[in-house]
Amino acid sequence: MKFFLDTANLQEIQEAVELGVLDGVTTNPSLMAKEGIKGTDGVMSHYKQICEIVDGDVSAEVIATDYEGIIREGEALAELHPNIVVKVPMIKEGVKAIRYFSDKGIKTNCTLIFSAGQALLAAKAGATYVSPFVGRLDDIGHDGLQLVQQIVDIFSNYGYPTQVLAASVRHVPHLIQCAELGADVVTCPLNVIMGLLNHPLTDKGLATFLADHQKVNS
Ligand code: E4P
Repeated sequence: MKFFLDTANLQEIQEAVELGVLDGVTTNPSLMAKEGIKGTDGVMSHYKQICEIVDGDVSAEVIATDYEGIIREGEALAELHPNIVVKVPMIKEGVKAIRYFSDKGIKTNCTLIFSAGQALLAAKAGATYVSPFVGRLDDIGHDGLQLVQQIVDIFSNYGYPTQVLAASVRHVPHLIQCAELGADVVTCPLNVIMGLLNHPLTDKGLATFLADHQKVNS
């Protein structure tokens, strides 16, 4: 299972790289705004900096919603760095653009997936990744993990190469259940990855071992 960090924060990306478990990064316009990035040049330069820190796929989202605009923005993003994945929304023009990018060998991440039908459509168009939003479905009383299960099953039935990138993953149990369901990738904030470290029995056991070691050496 690949771990992507869902952030545009360079320090957090660096921290996850140093832990040695980071496979890539996903961003979206809201995450870029949170970092105070301004203007097209600022956005492009920020993506480049992310690509220099992490050795893996970096999803960069288009803003355009018309076909020509998505193609224009996507091609400009893809030219920035070989690891850029063009993130395209699940809309009709987006599906057409995913087919175009796929035929040109440009990697895509179809975002804002909230149904199995949307995921199937994106896979048929040749998306590299589909991003079902687990947490946002949970937020409205639906079962986000059930959607991940459906998509994993459908892709497996037909051998689609499109990878299931579980997005909007908010906490450790989400991440673990995505792993159990066979999601290819999970993207989440740094605190969720760091949360995997924690167990009170580990802390208690280590404290005992260190105390006993002191006794041996005193
Ligand atoms: C990532 O690709 C998505 O944009 C992100 O996971 C959405 O997460 P949120 O629902 O916590 O904003």
